[in-house]
Amino acid sequence: MFSYRNLLHSRCYLSKNITSCSFGSSLRPIAKFDHPVNRDSNCPTLELPQKDSSFGIKSHNIVKLPERLKEAVDKILGSYQDRNLINNSESLNHHLIFKKPPLTESQLKQIEVSCTERVSATHLFPDMSFMSVDDEKRLSNSLNNKIRRSVKQTAYKWKPVVYNQSMAMAYLVARLAPDFASLYKIFSEIRSRDPGFQPQNLFDFGSGIGTALWSAKSCWGMDKFKEVFCVDSSVDMNNLAITLIQGGVWPNQQGESRVMGEDGTEGSSTLKGFYFRQFMPASPAVKYDLVVCAHTLLELPSAELRLQMALSLWRKSQGYLVFVEHGSRAAYEVIVEIRDFLLSLSDEGKEANLEGHVFSPCPHEARCPRFADSTPCNFEAKYESLMKKQQVLKERFSYVVLKKGPRSETDSRWPRVVRPVLTRSGHTICRLCTNEGKLEEIVVTRSKHSKEDNTIARKTKWGDLLPVQLSHHEAQRDHSPDDKENFKLS
Ligand SMILES: C[S@@+](CC[C@H](N)C(=O)[O-])C[C@H]1O[C@@H](n2cnc3c(N)ncnc32)[C@H](O)[C@@H]1O
Repeated sequence: MFSYRNLLHSRCYLSKNITSCSFGSSLRPIAKFDHPVNRDSNCPTLELPQKDSSFGIKSHNIVKLPERLKEAVDKILGSYQDRNLINNSESLNHHLIFKKPPLTESQLKQIEVSCTERVSATHLFPDMSFMSVDDEKRLSNSLNNKIRRSVKQTAYKWKPVVYNQSMAMAYLVARLAPDFASLYKIFSEIRSRDPGFQPQNLFDFGSGIGTALWSAKSCWGMDKFKEVFCVDSSVDMNNLAITLIQGGVWPNQQGESRVMGEDGTEGSSTLKGFYFRQFMPASPAVKYDLVVCAHTLLELPSAELRLQMALSLWRKSQGYLVFVEHGSRAAYEVIVEIRDFLLSLSDEGKEANLEGHVFSPCPHEARCPRFADSTPCNFEAKYESLMKKQQVLKERFSYVVLKKGPRSETDSRWPRVVRPVLTRSGHTICRLCTNEGKLEEIVVTRSKHSKEDNTIARKTKWGDLLPVQLSHHEAQRDHSPDDKENFKLS
């Protein structure tokens, strides 16, 4: 409650913070390209979709669902009758894309303060010397009501999605293809940069309809995983995941949620090696090569629970831990929160099992340079629409992959391309996040770089690693005002 007198004294006008984003300074680093011939034999090799030397480039193909999954989806959709399915899927998609984490207490306090300031700044304060106690009380009440209304309108109202059967189906229609695509892109980089890594088991928290298991199996081989452990609090999500694995056949042929008991069951022989549970296993003793938490962090009701869950998942991992969320600023901030939290535990060194480093997208463990500006660090995956076959769509996502143990000394730590590459006549501009944790841009020109370097730069896409070593010696002053305009992409 705010008293009328306090409000009168705290009257002030809000000043809006204006943030801007720019890449490095006008002093651009010199980029020396790493060519296959110069490469240390231990240097990680990236997937080579092209037959030339563009070895920093990943596949930019449109990600398609595996045939088996598509057939199962068709079967499920064919037997599911709900006139609202498309509408439900569109509104669920909209909700998820704009979803934010629940406000913390301090954020809520900040909102209260700014609403108080705003309301009091616009309120006409009559001369108090002629006011009775009752009038003053009335005024205070009316002001407090205005403030309360303003807080209610301003504060984000987080609420969990209840994934019943109809929401699970809406999720399948809206999110299966884009979620599969972003995960496939992330997994593909692990596979290509770490070819010796062949995960035997997978742990998926908030597994939903099982998108991560399909994506991981498509990437490393359908029969390569001995165990897939899925945890999802929704029985209907688990049942739909099981139905997809069973080729579109509902567990009891009637589409009812029966396979799952309170603690889940292993199911039929076609589900051998799959475990579906509603709750996290109590013991962290069993570890997994690949641990995934996709599009679930924003579903957790508090920052404390997010961090607790992240720690449990990090403890469960003995290889890679993947967090992926939609590419919004809010989701990106949650990814940064988890990344920084787990890296800080790694730095503390209290528990050997918590040591790790960032595998992707960052080539560093420093604070994310994007955090200070207003845009998220996000990437794009192309995918085929589930409902309109042959329609190609793009999914934006933010992610972090942590790997257990220290970073290998032979890791080339090439910079990551964090915005679309700008190709111009005679030069190419790449906006990069470097191994020093800085945003830099380099200009690859015909006069200063070889033909091969120019080709690599042109073929490189947003999200790739650029095979260059950067140095600031004899840095060139290079102004391209036209191109600067384009740096504010989000
Ligand atoms: C947005 S869906 C993501 C599904 C899947 N990971 C994907 O990427 O397609 C979030 C899932 O998290 C599940 N979930 C939410 N809170 C949970 C919790 N506390 N424990 C386990 N699962 C949870 C929901 O039931 C839902 O299936």
